[in-house]
Amino acid sequence: MEIRRASEADFEAMWSIFQAVVATGDTYVFSPTTSRQDCHAYWFGPETTSFVAVEGLTILGMYKFRANQRDLGSHVANASFMVSPAAHGIGVGKAMGQHCLMEARTAGYVAMQFNFVVSTNTGAIALWKKLGFSIVGTLPKAFKHQRLGYVDAYVMHRFLNDG
Ligand SMILES: CC(C)(COP(=O)(O)OP(=O)(O)OC[C@H]1O[C@@H](n2cnc3c(N)ncnc32)[C@H](O)[C@@H]1OP(=O)(O)O)[C@@H](O)C(=O)NCCC(=O)NCCS
Repeated sequence: MEIRRASEADFEAMWSIFQAVVATGDTYVFSPTTSRQDCHAYWFGPETTSFVAVEGLTILGMYKFRANQRDLGSHVANASFMVSPAAHGIGVGKAMGQHCLMEARTAGYVAMQFNFVVSTNTGAIALWKKLGFSIVGTLPKAFKHQRLGYVDAYVMHRFLNDG
């Protein structure tokens, strides 16, 4: 598996993965009816760096990172990850997470923060904890889960210097 910068040529496959991920209504705030244009803006918007994980010609997942805040908060990165449902559980998310930490470190960020990890997304939370993140805050009933109704969301954080 290779992880490389995403290009416009990847967007069709990224759009398919995005649609499959948001269709379940249990991990991201995006409505299942989010437009292709909004999806494109999310992955290729200004000051956003996107990567894809590729096996042969197949895109297995993607991630993006950017500054979490402007100006005086711009030393903290924010990132988002989506793996194709067909490729869950085979290490794509972990590889992209490790890659993202390296890229953010190289770009000069001092920390990474996930602003909105749905508290019932146990797979993601387990993965982020394995990658060194901790839950630093809880947003009560901030997410309207498609099946469970209002559930909490977590803010997760780690510094990027391992020393
Ligand atoms: C969350 C997501 C990115 C994880 O990617 P993935 O490729 O499925 O996960 P991986 O195969 O890389 O697994 C990574 C680790 O997490 C663990 N893990 C995965 N799912 C788990 C679960 N449900 N419970 C416990 N641990 C789990 C694995 O055991 C693995 O650990 P190991 O390498 O030490 O064995 C992916 O499932 C996804 O895109 N989900 C939908 C969108 C989403 O939730 N994005 C994140 C929003 S915060």
